[in-house]
Amino acid sequence: MAATGEPILRVRDLVKHFPLRHGPLRAQVGLIKAVDGVSFDLGRGETLGVVGESGCGKSTLARLLLGLERPTSGSVTVGGGEITRARGGELKRLRRNIQMIMQDPYASLNPRMTVGDIVGEPYEIHRDAVPKGDRRRRVRELLEIVGLNPDHADRYPHQFSGGQRRRVGIARGLALQPEIIVCDEPVSSLDVSIRAQIVNLLGRLQDELGLSYVFIAHDLSVVRHISDRVGVMYLGKLVELGGDGEIYGHPAHPYTQALLSAVPVPDPEGRERRRRIILQGDPPSPITPPSGCRFRTRCWKARDVCAEREPPLRALSGTGHAGACHFAEPREAPPPA
Ligand SMILES: Nc1ncnc2c1ncn2[C@@H]1O[C@H](COP(=O)(O)OP(=O)(O)OP(=O)(O)O)[C@@H](O)[C@H]1O
Ligand SMILES: [Mg+2]
Repeated sequence: MAATGEPILRVRDLVKHFPLRHGPLRAQVGLIKAVDGVSFDLGRGETLGVVGESGCGKSTLARLLLGLERPTSGSVTVGGGEITRARGGELKRLRRNIQMIMQDPYASLNPRMTVGDIVGEPYEIHRDAVPKGDRRRRVRELLEIVGLNPDHADRYPHQFSGGQRRRVGIARGLALQPEIIVCDEPVSSLDVSIRAQIVNLLGRLQDELGLSYVFIAHDLSVVRHISDRVGVMYLGKLVELGGDGEIYGHPAHPYTQALLSAVPVPDPEGRERRRRIILQGDPPSPITPPSGCRFRTRCWKARDVCAEREPPLRALSGTGHAGACHFAEPREAPPPA
């Protein structure tokens, strides 16, 4: 769905450094730069895919967006209110509007609670959201919306399949009628067919409820069909941000090109144009990121300038496509159709 009007979520220069402690006295010996200067807007009804390798800071970013973690610096504004500064009742009100669907349903669903109680749990925290007498009915509705049998509300998570447990997590995420949902790898470790069902469900819910999504995944193939725009993260930073056609059709950053080359391309024309780029080694440690461009130690285009100067995320077109590479070429925007 295309975005309209004012952004519903605004992220500016967001930084989260965790202290690295060592020894019997737990002395601070360094900083883990988990998120290190991230900015973007999310439009109403829009889906922003966020991709990157393990440890690049995706889940930390998600927790910052929800106000579950205080940033070292920078801001997150949700529907006009700054969640990164809010406290008490104001924080509670803002949090209601942005909910998370978790990576691992086994870890996030309490095995001793019935599915109905799990879905209705947010009402225990936000007691004014739905009157007590209506909660049972509302939980049944939520189960129905996500394609589960409402008569199964008294069953336990282990009685459901992996795909059904994702649906339970989605139903709970919808309980407080948020406008924004952050999906942290909602389809990882699912079979391809179940994965497609869950992605389709999220797409349908977006259309029906007008939701805005930040959709986090490891690789570009997962977010392709659901994202309007995609942000590519590397070691705590966004290295490229652009519309779906720009990221998949004209990737500007070498890291995006490498990620994309690992994704199977359906059309034979694309397959010929694209060569497989194998990235050497693991990402460097977020405790001691390389000077200048963080990607340079794995980049085949790297020159001296890459070690000396950090490339800013700069506009490459008039349409919001931006890349953080000294060698990324600005492109002419395509003529309006
Ligand atoms: N509470 C914490 N305390 C210290 N370090 C942390 C904490 N949470 C995350 N980190 C570190 O921050 C970095 C980013 O972690 P994060 O979980 O955000 O990555 P991720 O992109 O979600 O990875 P994955 O794809 O494996 O889920 C990692 O180096 C991690 O070890
Ligand atoms: Mg994660």
